[in-house]
Amino acid sequence: MSPVPVSEVVLASCAKLPEGDGDERALPDALAEVGVSARWAPWDDPGVDFAAADLVIVRSTWDYTDRRDEFLAWCDRAPGLRNPARVVRWNTDKAYLPELAAAGVPAVPTELVAPGVTPAWPDVEFVLKPAVGVGSIGAARFVPGARDEAERHLATLHGAGHTVLVQPYQSHVDAEGETALVFFGGIYSHAFTKGAMLTGSDLDGSGLYVSERLGVAEPEPAFRRVAEDVLDAAAGVLGVPRGELLYARVDLLRGVDGAPLLLELELTEPSLGFRYADPAAPLRFASAVRRQLAG
Ligand SMILES: Nc1ncnc2c1ncn2[C@@H]1O[C@H](COP(=O)(O)OP(=O)(O)O)[C@@H](O)[C@H]1O
Ligand SMILES: [Mg+2]
Repeated sequence: MSPVPVSEVVLASCAKLPEGDGDERALPDALAEVGVSARWAPWDDPGVDFAAADLVIVRSTWDYTDRRDEFLAWCDRAPGLRNPARVVRWNTDKAYLPELAAAGVPAVPTELVAPGVTPAWPDVEFVLKPAVGVGSIGAARFVPGARDEAERHLATLHGAGHTVLVQPYQSHVDAEGETALVFFGGIYSHAFTKGAMLTGSDLDGSGLYVSERLGVAEPEPAFRRVAEDVLDAAAGVLGVPRGELLYARVDLLRGVDGAPLLLELELTEPSLGFRYADPAAPLRFASAVRRQLAG
């Protein structure tokens, strides 16, 4: 006889990828093993009562970027949302990067450029990308001489209402990619690598993200250390114990001096790279979910 589930959780996806991109295929079974019944549902499906679920775990909700207000309002209506709505509100705007830098985190130098404002154009290769964005959509790289092209891209992003990030291009990414370190309930689980994205790569068939080249990673100690510091700093800024963050992904790349820099902290809808982790990673996720259900 199979045990009666102790609770029901919804894994929130989007209409185009209702069960995610396949990376999380093992999660429902891993959750069932510890008595948690899980099902997928697109976040904007009006037929689903998200408020009634014990937990709503934000996963592949990758189509919210053009309607962030609607998405955040949906987050506010699900009391069991993980990560919590307040965390999602903060984390879906890359304005958190300068904030974490001010808290002492080594982050990629970032200038935020609101619509109507002209940036101080860098004299090195640089990146423009929207402050609200996923899957590399809207991110582009420019050589210092390509001012006209950059101004056009800036105008397009501003025209769509985006605040824009200007960052120096971190060229070590070309050879070694970025390293994504994954935490469940504030505890390190595993890591994976992601190849450089701004190389003219193609969109995935869903149109929601640029196709990624991922791989297994064994991060060096300096990367592990900075990732831990990033989680502590974020927990400090948010005023939550880091153990309350059901999942977190810290994306680091190597700066010009060789030391790790924060590119992105993902507390909203990160791919968690289960395909590149050891087989127990979904069980660690399931255990962190059980801990959250215990309150
Ligand atoms: N400053 C940068 N230097 C080098 N590569 C960058 C830089 N900013 C972005 N990229 C590339 O663009 C991709 C997308 O940017 P990112 O900040 O991770 O936004 P998101 O993943 O939310 O779309 C990264 O995975 C990386 O390959
Ligand atoms: Mg990213």
